Parts: sequence; C-alpha cells; structure tokens
Amino acid sequence: MKKMLTLFVAVTFVSLTAMVAIAENKGPAEVKMKASMGDVTFDHAAHQERVTDCATCHHTGMDSGTCKSCHDAKPEAPKAKKAFHKLCKSCHKKESGPTKCKACHVK
Ligand code: HEC
Ligand code: HEC
Ligand code: HEC
Ligand code: HEC
Repeated sequence: MKKMLTLFVAVTFVSLTAMVAIAENKGPAEVKMKASMGDVTFDHAAHQERVTDCATCHHTGMDSGTCKSCHDAKPEAPKAKKAFHKLCKSCHKKESGPTKCKACHVK
C-alpha cells in the first residue's frame, strides 16, 4: 500500500512537472523572417503581451509545427505572404500597429 502511494506521488509529480514545462514554452522572444522586400523582425514576446490568445496566430494549435511547415509548403494553405499580410495588417489597422511596408520590412 505504501509502495503504491509512493508510486502515485511520484507519477503525479512527474506529470505536473511536464505540464508546467509545456505551459512555459513560449517560443523565441524574437523571430526574424527573411523577405526580398527586407527582413521582418517580429517581436514575439511583445506580441504575446498584446495578444492574449495564442490561437489568434497559432490557429492550428501549438503542436502542429511552424507556420511555414504549411504555408508555402502545403497546397491547401495560402502562401505565407498572403496569410501573414492578412493576419498582421488587419490587426494593425484595428489596433494602430504599423501598416507601412517599411515599418515591417527593413533592408
Ligand atoms: C505588419 C508587417 C508587414 C507589413 C506592413 C508589410 N509586410 Fe510584407 N511581409 C510581412 C511578413 C511577416 C512576411 C512573410 C515573410 C516570410 O515569408 O517569411 C511578408 C512577406 C512579403 C513578401 C514576400 C516575401 C519575399 O521575400 O518576397 C513581399 C513581396 C512583401 N511582404 C511585400 C510587402 C509590401 C510591398 C508591403 C507594403 C505594401 C508590405 N509587404 C507590408 C510583414 C509585413
Ligand atoms: C501575433 C502572432 C502571434 C502570437 C499572438 C503568438 N505567436 Fe507564437 N509565433 C508566432 C510566429 C510568427 C512564430 C514564428 C515561428 C513559425 O514560423 O511558426 C511563432 C513561434 C512560436 C513558437 C516556436 C514554434 C516552433 O515550432 O518553432 C512557440 C513555442 C510559440 N510561438 C508559442 C506561443 C505562445 C505560447 C503564445 C501565446 C502566449 C504565442 N506563441 C503567441 C506568432 C505568434
Ligand atoms: C498544419 C498546417 C498549418 C499551420 C502549422 C499553420 N497554418 Fe495557417 N492555415 C492553414 C490552412 C490549411 C489554412 C487555410 C484554411 C483555413 O483557413 O483554415 C490556413 C489559413 C491561415 C490564415 C487565413 C488566410 C486567409 O487568406 O484567410 C492565416 C492568417 C494563417 N493561416 C496564419 C498562420 C500563422 C501565422 C501560422 C503560424 C503561427 C499558421 N497559419 C500555421 C494551415 C496551417
Ligand atoms: C491581434 C493583433 C496583432 C497581430 C495579429 C499582430 N500584431 Fe504587430 N502589433 C500589434 C500592436 C497593437 C502593435 C503596436 C504596439 C504599440 O505601438 O504600442 C504592433 C506592433 C508591431 C510592430 C512594431 C514594433 C513592435 O513590436 O512594437 C511590428 C514590426 C509588428 N507589430 C509586426 C507584426 C507581424 C510581422 C505580425 C504578423 C506575424 C503582427 N505584428 C501581428 C498587434 C498585432
């Protein structure tokens, strides 16, 4: 009985630790995206503060890989340029973020 309890406590502890580790994976603070127009430096950490729902951008969930594993890779997903422009600019229009080409694309 005592052994079972010890095992139960150990298993609970391990799974709780794993859950905390997953919850804390916020990804990189900054993402550099290559573009011929000039590279885009995306402040991921700042956007996580501004946009509380991760799914606003991570619309397929957190375990489905990077955006570009589908966008520019799978035919059913719109091209990255189109998808990113739509996502980034539509929010920026609403919430007065940058909408000019050169505010995002820096050579
Ligand atoms: C809110 C930020 C933002 C603004 C404003 C913006 N872009 Fe982009 N653009 C991006 C992002 C992010 C990508 C995706 C980069 C990638 O594919 O990795 C992109 C991709 C592109 C691409 C395709 C990538 C390439 O190498 O050719 C082109 C062309 C482009 N943008 C042109 C423009 C032009 C022209 C404007 C202004 C009318 C503009 N962008 C405004 C963020 C922006
Ligand atoms: C405004 C859009 C946006 C928001 C909001 C956002 N992210 Fe991201 N996130 C991105 C982009 C763009 C990348 C770049 C990597 C990619 O291409 O998938 C990224 C990358 C990541 C990565 C690395 C993924 C990988 O496989 O390389 C993790 C982890 C992540 N984000 C977690 C989060 C979490 C957790 C939240 C919410 C607290 C969040 N993100 C909110 C846009 C966003
Ligand atoms: C597992 C594949 C997959 C991943 C990963 C993925 N997407 Fe998508 N995305 C799609 C597909 C398929 C569509 C088109 C159907 C739909 O709207 O669900 C789409 C649609 C979109 C749209 C709407 C485009 C439009 O023209 O209406 C945006 C914006 C978008 N994705 C942004 C992102 C961003 C940003 C990331 C990374 C944080 C990402 N996606 C990750 C598959 C994916
Ligand atoms: C749901 C809302 C939302 C989405 C989606 C979003 N942004 Fe923003 N972003 C903002 C707001 C709000 C600001 C302005 C913050 C300020 O001026 O205080 C901003 C500011 C910025 C800036 C100026 C520098 C900075 O971080 O303050 C850049 C560059 C930028 N965003 C790039 C992007 C790119 C690239 C994407 C798409 C991958 C994106 N944003 C998606 C809300 C958003």
